[in-house]
Amino acid sequence: MEETLQIPAHVALILDGNGRWAKKRGLPRQMGHKKGCETLEQVVEDAARLGIKYLTVYGFSTENWSRPGDEVSALMQLFRYYAKRLLKVAAEHGLRIRMIGERSRFAPDLVEAINRLEEETKDNTNLNFVIAVNYGGRDEITRAVRRVMDDCMAGRLKKEDMTEQTFASYLDTAGLPDPDLLIRTSGELRLSNYLLWQLAYTELYVTDCLWPDFNREELITAIRHYNRRERRFGGVEARTEQSPQK
Ligand code: IPE
Ligand code: IPE
Ligand code: MG
Repeated sequence: MEETLQIPAHVALILDGNGRWAKKRGLPRQMGHKKGCETLEQVVEDAARLGIKYLTVYGFSTENWSRPGDEVSALMQLFRYYAKRLLKVAAEHGLRIRMIGERSRFAPDLVEAINRLEEETKDNTNLNFVIAVNYGGRDEITRAVRRVMDDCMAGRLKKEDMTEQTFASYLDTAGLPDPDLLIRTSGELRLSNYLLWQLAYTELYVTDCLWPDFNREELITAIRHYNRRERRFGGVEARTEQSPQK
């Protein structure tokens, strides 16, 4: 019998384990990141084919700056390369690309490439591919609070108008639905400062598979696990809607 999978609309990914993948092979960590990027390109294509509407991946955290300088430089070089390459990939697969995170810390040419990528793909309607770079959940919330304060002080926002929805509109993810499923590779059971607000009712799935080894089969296995979950959103029965009911 053919299997019917209920495809989650929004999948968030913590692609972890590039370093361990390289170490296992006696290679420098950078080689793990390079292979990890190739895996990601394939997985984005698979996700689009499966009918996933939003894929949000954690590419570089606000804490990742504390890694050795040569690893950080190698990661920046990879972003630079993919910022260009993704223009072609996005056109081929109808991807709309969006970056979340604080981008002013990047070199001006990289910021320009990111802006161009968002601008040139904004009318694509297939998969929304969201990339978190220099992203931290606490940093995102702190920046949002600053903008809320600006708007309050300028008289554009009244205290009584602040609701969960209003606050969410100040986050980097404004306009995106909350993730339905979070997949973390490489077995670590933590969020590492990822999407702290948005993951409130997301189903969590952790696999021991190292990110560079991840593939379509692994993605389908994660979705199968998701399909067996009963999402209750604080109630007593399974519900299918996206957000917790108030
Ligand atoms: C994830 O792989 C990629 C980034 C954080 C940029 P890691 O580099 O964290 O790999 P491990 O966890 O050391 O194996
Ligand atoms: C989370 O992975 C960040 C990304 C995948 C970009 P880390 O490898 O940085 O997280 P920790 O250090 O294991 O918590
Ligand atoms: Mg890691």
